[in-house]
Amino acid sequence: MTPPDPVDFFERQFQRQVRETDFALNPFEQLALPHVAGAVLDLGCGLGNLSLEAARRGCSVTAVDASLTAVERLRAAALQEQLAITALQADLAGFRIVRDYDTIVAIGLLMFFRKERALALLRQIGERVRPGGCAIVNVLTEGTSYLDMFQPGEYYLFGTKELERAFAGWAVLTAQHDSFPAPGGTRKEFATIIAQKP
Ligand SMILES: C[S@@+](CC[C@H](N)C(=O)[O-])C[C@H]1O[C@@H](n2cnc3c(N)ncnc32)[C@H](O)[C@@H]1O
Repeated sequence: MTPPDPVDFFERQFQRQVRETDFALNPFEQLALPHVAGAVLDLGCGLGNLSLEAARRGCSVTAVDASLTAVERLRAAALQEQLAITALQADLAGFRIVRDYDTIVAIGLLMFFRKERALALLRQIGERVRPGGCAIVNVLTEGTSYLDMFQPGEYYLFGTKELERAFAGWAVLTAQHDSFPAPGGTRKEFATIIAQKP
């Protein structure tokens, strides 16, 4: 499989993190963790830190990412701890969610697709969460000026309220905006939603 370009960006980052055993949960994964339960799908799982912590708490997890370094690290850690994790290396550009889950997570993923694909995957997430289950989605939004990890034209910055509109009718447990400085005086603007399906 030839990885898409953003994945090269993350491959390099993940290889360094594996060398340095830097496996801390990021702030969005920490926010998500209390809401992760049951059968979990972790799309764009990265190094799998959230998947591992969820499985340690009794969840059965399917985790998907295009980064071989990330998937191999997750498989090795899951095997060592005998955790219920299936880690798949796949390009999510063409991926279909084929069953229902109690929790579907997509942290820092959907902006790596063109608008049509990003919104189609967001719709699938909504359809595949079981009633009573949670969707946990985090994306970069308009106003983000740090674009080094994107291929020109091959990304989508969400509208600031777009996630809330997508989950209209769900119980919104968390909806927040975060702004972080990035290299070269740029910024990353994030929207996060944790929503429970009626
Ligand atoms: C910002 S990182 C987030 C990783 C993890 N969810 C976290 O919170 O640390 C984005 C992840 O999306 C993955 N990714 C980007 N484009 C992808 C694609 N087309 N198919 C599969 N994974 C992709 C990258 O490999 C990377 O692991």
